[in-house]
Amino acid sequence: MISLEGLVSRQSKIAMVGLGYVGLPLAVSFDKVADVIGYDISNRKIEELKRGFDATGEIASSDLISSEIEFTTDPDRLKETEFIIVTVPTPIHKSKRPDLAPVKSASRTIGQNLAKNSIVVFESTFYPGVTEEICIPILEAESGLICGVDFKVGYSPERINPGDQTYTVENIVKVVSGQDEETLETVARVYEAVITAGVFRASSIRVAEAAKVIENTQRDLNIALMNELSILFNKMGISTSDVLEAAGTKWNFLKFKPGLVGGHCIGVDPYYLTHKAEAVGYNPQVILAGRRINDGMGKYVAEMTVKKLIEVRKTVNGSRVLVLGLTFKENVSDIRNSKVVDILQNLKEFGVTALVHDPMANVNDVREEYGLELSSLAEIGKVDGVVWAVDHDAFKHITPWHLKELCGNGNGHGVVVDVKSILNRAEVESQGLVYWSL
Ligand SMILES: NC(=O)c1ccc[n+]([C@@H]2O[C@H](COP(=O)([O-])OP(=O)(O)OC[C@H]3O[C@@H](n4cnc5c(N)ncnc54)[C@H](O)[C@@H]3O)[C@@H](O)[C@H]2O)c1
Repeated sequence: MISLEGLVSRQSKIAMVGLGYVGLPLAVSFDKVADVIGYDISNRKIEELKRGFDATGEIASSDLISSEIEFTTDPDRLKETEFIIVTVPTPIHKSKRPDLAPVKSASRTIGQNLAKNSIVVFESTFYPGVTEEICIPILEAESGLICGVDFKVGYSPERINPGDQTYTVENIVKVVSGQDEETLETVARVYEAVITAGVFRASSIRVAEAAKVIENTQRDLNIALMNELSILFNKMGISTSDVLEAAGTKWNFLKFKPGLVGGHCIGVDPYYLTHKAEAVGYNPQVILAGRRINDGMGKYVAEMTVKKLIEVRKTVNGSRVLVLGLTFKENVSDIRNSKVVDILQNLKEFGVTALVHDPMANVNDVREEYGLELSSLAEIGKVDGVVWAVDHDAFKHITPWHLKELCGNGNGHGVVVDVKSILNRAEVESQGLVYWSL
């Protein structure tokens, strides 16, 4: 069986299958201690990586160029490796059901190229049971090998937070698991070679799978509670941020804020858990209630923007609103499942001309994924309102005075909607603008 010693002495190789936000940083870390083959099905991605360009923005070009990772789209190369880490996407269908197609396809490819005595570790976010009930049977069928005898399997969920410079792959404790004691120990030792924060040995693969999916479910629910409170306090005319500031002085009050929950993790992973819950005959109520609230926040923000425009006597139909930020969160280029798109869509339904500016997002990706055109600040002209949706550092130069300058369309006050509650209300209002925040 593969060992850490074999890897660090470069007698055997590690393969990373799927080189996105999760796989690439991990490949770069392992490259420091072992020979790494980086496999991805996307030709474009592999060509970019070979040229030293990481479209996710996580890895600097110099680090890519100086790495010795062998980037390839050739699945045959997996035969050279004995420790395979799978970091392919786990999206959901429109129906909110898990879409396991990439995981199944990766398992098929690995199975067809699986060397005897290998360990395959899945990192993609799963509901409890995916590794054992779905991946192992595919690996066995495609390889003709027997799991537990000819090869072993582990699961180690990823916890990185793209765009975060403080918590990186190496300094977040990594949960590891294996199908037996020996596999667990090998998986743990391999990860310990690069994860300086250390590893946590979970008692089983299912426990590790469940641990990951509840981390994001818990966060989703906590934000959903804040969003519900925000809707409630708005009806009562109370400032949610003032309430949270006051409540936050208690030592055990959790510091969550209301906001949009987009992206491919927090807004998606709970559906993996609820799918499994239903499969075992349990109808999850709290988790799905939270999902419904969070999924509705884009529409809510758009409706509140329109109400504010009406309050300042703007004619909604034909008014112009600038939305700042499109990516699913601050300081990343990732636009997948962005809830800002819901704001834009709903504003348009009211007849508002909604413009969006985001220096972090890729123009072509935005066009391809949403059919939207990004606007540049210089060309936007005057608008009736600004929705500050994403807190990019790149927006830090925009002051309340700039907002007033932007909001000079027609008569009446301009409206500023501060989705992230980052602006100072008094400063915005002192510019003669009407301020609203979640
Ligand atoms: N991005 C995050 O913040 C984050 C954090 C923790 C966990 N996760 C989980 O990690 C997993 C990967 O997420 P990501 O954000 O890195 O995804 P991603 O979309 O950025 O990257 C996935 C890569 O896998 C490739 N791919 C797809 N199918 C493949 C196949 N069959 N064979 C080989 N390559 C294939 C894609 O081309 C892509 O380059 C998901 O399960 C996600 O939920 C993501």
